[in-house]
Amino acid sequence: MKPAREHSLLLGQSSVMIRLRELALQVAETDITVLITGETGSGKEVLARFIHEHSRRSANNFIPVNCGAIPSGLLESELFGHEKGSFTGAVQARKGYFESADRGTIFLDEIGEMPPETQVKFLRVLETGEFQRVGASQTIYSDARVIAATNRNLYQEVAENRFREDLYYRLRSVELQLPPLRERGRDILVLTEHFVREAELRHGISFEGFDAEAVDMLLRYPWPGNIRELRNLIDSLLVLEKGRKITSGILEKHLIQRSRHKSLVHDPSRSEKQELNLIYSSIIQLRQEMSEIRHLLQLLLHNRPQPSPLLLPGPASQTEAQTREPPAVPAETRTAEKQAALPSLGDIEKQTIIDTLKASGNNKRLAAKTLGITERTLYRKIKSYGIGN
Ligand SMILES: Nc1ncnc2c1ncn2[C@@H]1O[C@H](COP(=O)(O)OP(=O)(O)OP(=O)(O)O)[C@@H](O)[C@H]1O
Ligand SMILES: [Mg+2]
Repeated sequence: MKPAREHSLLLGQSSVMIRLRELALQVAETDITVLITGETGSGKEVLARFIHEHSRRSANNFIPVNCGAIPSGLLESELFGHEKGSFTGAVQARKGYFESADRGTIFLDEIGEMPPETQVKFLRVLETGEFQRVGASQTIYSDARVIAATNRNLYQEVAENRFREDLYYRLRSVELQLPPLRERGRDILVLTEHFVREAELRHGISFEGFDAEAVDMLLRYPWPGNIRELRNLIDSLLVLEKGRKITSGILEKHLIQRSRHKSLVHDPSRSEKQELNLIYSSIIQLRQEMSEIRHLLQLLLHNRPQPSPLLLPGPASQTEAQTREPPAVPAETRTAEKQAALPSLGDIEKQTIIDTLKASGNNKRLAAKTLGITERTLYRKIKSYGIGN
């Protein structure tokens, strides 16, 4: 028997993944059209390959096509082929992906991006297996099994007349939903281990492991980029933190650096859920910044004779402040004055809680998760700070 290829392993021991694997094996035995839905990076292509490799078609081609990446004017000729001279630039006849996938599987990723005129032709292929190359009159038949995928809400696309309703119902004969990584519990650790081993081999570096707090952080982070984000993170940790055990501090730094690259500007193609996840990533970033400020304030209060003129509202000019004699007041009074000028740790904590509640739409469960405290503690703090009164 041929060994399973790395990318079609479909790792995961969570109950939802066990069930999904069972379903995938069941549909693999048939030629039924499958629609795979799931957030970006959640493994839609991996699942499609898994189905192909467990089907009777596995010895033939698996052709992945990203409908969103091909300019709409070219998609039709890419999918169905064209005759020589059928359009400017068609210098010779070419067969399309459907012909190449004959007796194999064609994987149409980002199906929601398919332009309406191509959707009509595609529906006909699904129903009869027949089509014509662009510019040809001869009908061709292809026995390609179709698996489509989307990270958009296709139902909404139908409601807004961007996607044909008949095609939508035809596609969803079987719909397999990939859960986002944050809902896969300890699968995060199973995948982490797998990617660590894979990256160790690829880079020839050995990994020193995570400490307990870092493991906890891996389990709590919302993973807006799902498995792809986890895989890329492991890669950077291995290379950039070579020889170091990964603490929660190191991990947080890398997660923040990654989330800084993602813009929070509204992007209409992003789902509401993905937007929310980006907000959570930013909250984690905010928490880190707050804890850095808190740390600085503690240093100022306990270790320094004078507050830093760079951080605190002080006299008119720094030079003046540096040359001025300390005032002749008792030490306790000076400390009390300094403390009055600074927000207390309680104030900072209260503000962090208010901001987090706001960002999570007052969802206490999510806010507690983001803050890294239990829901019960959050309720206690809300009460004691009088938040929302
Ligand atoms: N179950 C899994 N086991 C191991 N690796 C996985 C699994 N699922 C996904 N991956 C890895 O995660 C990455 C993203 O997977 P994939 O490309 O299938 O996601 P996708 O849902 O198609 O993403 P997109 O929406 O961006 O097209 C790949 O590197 C893939 O190898
Ligand atoms: Mg994909």
